[in-house]
Amino acid sequence: MWRHWVAGWLTIVVIAGCGGHVGDVASLQELMRDQVDASADAIWDAVGTTTTRDGIVEKQPRSDADWKALRRHAVVLLEATHLLVIPGRRVAAKEFPSDGPGVFSSQEIQAELGRRQREFAGFAQGLRASGRRVLAAIDSRDVDALLKEGAVMDDACEACHRSFWYPHEVVPALPAEPPRLQDGPAGAGAIRAAVGRGFHPACVVRCGR
Ligand code: HEC
Repeated sequence: MWRHWVAGWLTIVVIAGCGGHVGDVASLQELMRDQVDASADAIWDAVGTTTTRDGIVEKQPRSDADWKALRRHAVVLLEATHLLVIPGRRVAAKEFPSDGPGVFSSQEIQAELGRRQREFAGFAQGLRASGRRVLAAIDSRDVDALLKEGAVMDDACEACHRSFWYPHEVVPALPAEPPRLQDGPAGAGAIRAAVGRGFHPACVVRCGR
């Protein structure tokens, strides 16, 4: 008999312990930063060509360990697309304001999520489909496919961002000539100059490659 009592109390204690605390469920912002973006960056950075003083350096996963590490990132990204569609997730633990004209604040994003849940799920599914192709490229150790599918994945990110984050963003007019980058201090100067002309620093670095 006493065993039943103990088992009963234990069950209550365990269930009470599983109630969770405020803050132990990630916000959308945390999912983006810690799972989606971190994994996507690892995938994008895995393949590329850089020009250095010693010539062109081709970067790609080579060893078994490289491919396995990359696979882990792809799996985290794919799983995150399931977490994204769990209803009721808060956009941000700490509300944030709009970043500029045409860009939603966290509260506006939250309202859009409530109103257009199915559309949001559709974008998450788009990213999942793209992530699966990235995973397939990794599993077949196909560097060209990894490069191609990685680029396509960028579109899946942007499609959702353009709808739920910065739908009417005002983009400054760009100069006709793309910025030219060089190695060393001159490169930094070129970046600063290009940023001054309205380029986002990340774009300058990407476009310069
Ligand atoms: C289904 C919709 C959706 C998809 C797909 C999506 N995002 Fe997001 N992402 C959002 C929304 C909404 C925000 C704005 C709210 C926020 O900051 O979390 C955001 C914000 C971000 C942020 C800013 C986080 C911060 O610190 O405020 C980053 C970085 C990001 N996303 C990266 C990515 C990358 C990389 C991908 C693709 C691999 C991606 N996202 C795919 C919806 C999406």
